Amino acid sequence: MSVVSGDIDATGPVETGPALATVEPAPPLVLVVFGASGDLTARKLLPAIAALAHHGAVGEHFTVVGVARTEWTDEEFRKVALEAVPGADASWDPLVARFRYISGEYDAPETFDRLSQVLTECDEAFGTAGNRVFYLATVPAAFGLVAGALAAHGCNRPAAGGAFARLVCEKPFGTDLASAEALDAALQGGFEESSIFRIDHYMGKETVQNVLALRFANAIFEPVWNRRYIDNIQITVAEELGVEHRGGFYEHAGALRDIVQNHVMQVLALTLMEPPTTIDAQSIRDEKVKLLKAVVIPTVDEAVGNTVRGQYTAGTVDGKDLPGYRQEEDVAPDSRTETYVALELSVDNWRWAGVPVYVRTGKRLPKRVTEVALHFHRVPHLAFGGALSRDLRPNVLVLRIQPDDGISLVFGAKVPGEAFRLRSVAMDFSYAEAFPGPEADGYERLLHDAMIGDPTLFIRTDEVEQAWKIVDPILEAWSDVDVPLAHYPAGTWGPHEADLLLAREGRQWRMP
Ligand code: BG6
Repeated sequence: MSVVSGDIDATGPVETGPALATVEPAPPLVLVVFGASGDLTARKLLPAIAALAHHGAVGEHFTVVGVARTEWTDEEFRKVALEAVPGADASWDPLVARFRYISGEYDAPETFDRLSQVLTECDEAFGTAGNRVFYLATVPAAFGLVAGALAAHGCNRPAAGGAFARLVCEKPFGTDLASAEALDAALQGGFEESSIFRIDHYMGKETVQNVLALRFANAIFEPVWNRRYIDNIQITVAEELGVEHRGGFYEHAGALRDIVQNHVMQVLALTLMEPPTTIDAQSIRDEKVKLLKAVVIPTVDEAVGNTVRGQYTAGTVDGKDLPGYRQEEDVAPDSRTETYVALELSVDNWRWAGVPVYVRTGKRLPKRVTEVALHFHRVPHLAFGGALSRDLRPNVLVLRIQPDDGISLVFGAKVPGEAFRLRSVAMDFSYAEAFPGPEADGYERLLHDAMIGDPTLFIRTDEVEQAWKIVDPILEAWSDVDVPLAHYPAGTWGPHEADLLLAREGRQWRMP
């Protein structure tokens, strides 16, 4: 773990927020961003680099080389970088003044000849010591092409002794198992697996990492974290937004590939895995893979029965009329792409056998919320009588990942008064209250980890493949046009069919 925070006084909440954290300086290096004129660079990467400069993690022996097809000069790229981070501190201007830009096609050798030359110039001018982090923020179709071209130009093997060349790859990692394997073969053709850093930005979220702290730094949760106490688990990744301007991309992705295969599988693995021996890259990733291997791979028939796919139609939210998915920009008027998924998964191991794991994710739901809810069994005998315990629900432990990050425990309490009436109440822990200060963006954390070579929060190839093995039969089931696509109005909690998925087992979705 790279962020070092202040001492915790066990007697009181004196902890520091991320703003007070100190960050280990990155070694001298050049960050080469492919797709430098794109949205991700402007929205996420440049602000993350500015934040790292602000925290002193990168300094005079660091610079950025942007590569993209857009015809910009160095000056134009620098201007974009300045505009992307309004209000940056004094460290940003001199850093941006060193940025370089190369415009060119990803399949043209000249682009990489020019890159090699610019990298040498950077080493000479800024003492970047031959170290490189190559960041693939391009369209996915270019990932393999760029990795291959880097290798063909020797950029994967730095000339300087002891120098490193790492490849950071954005999701999606393929569109199914076969394409993920092909992509891996292309990446691994030039780079060792240990130099490939696959990003899932959910792993950069503090609250996702906090699942590990909650589970493995506390004695009270582990004894109940199993089938004896837990009845079912519900993972929700709800978004209020629609597909915005990404219709073209989303048409070929859909919620299953966009969210479930990666973000949900990561959260699921961290929540359900066995305790790692140490919090290091290998132990954590080994445990995640072990858990993913225990998730039952459905047959195509089971996939039909245990899944619901939905698509939003027009709706009204806060008096505002919202279009249906099929009316969005770059979306086919008869599209069958799912914007909502509900699944029932099972995990075949000693700890979780018989505990259903329900997953739902969707766009244009009533609010943005990501949470994991562990629903406990009912008490074996309730002595208070039906009328008195009407408002009592079984215990629920909710890990709120975003927004309003925190943890709450729902438990029964006596309502004041003579009758022994019971009601469920919640005990709440709020991250923002316990750790005040600005929250670090996941990209800042992950970019820094790639710079210092810490792969703990990155996705290993076997994790990617196992996640596709779980998702592929569902994709196959849904490729059959007879498998229904349910609809839900924008601004609602998804199709009715998703409620039925739980109702058939006498359960219901938690209202986040
Ligand atoms: C991305 C998806 O990976 O995650 C987007 O491609 C989605 O469709 C986004 O909106 C959600 O991220 P977050 O951090 O807002 O939950």
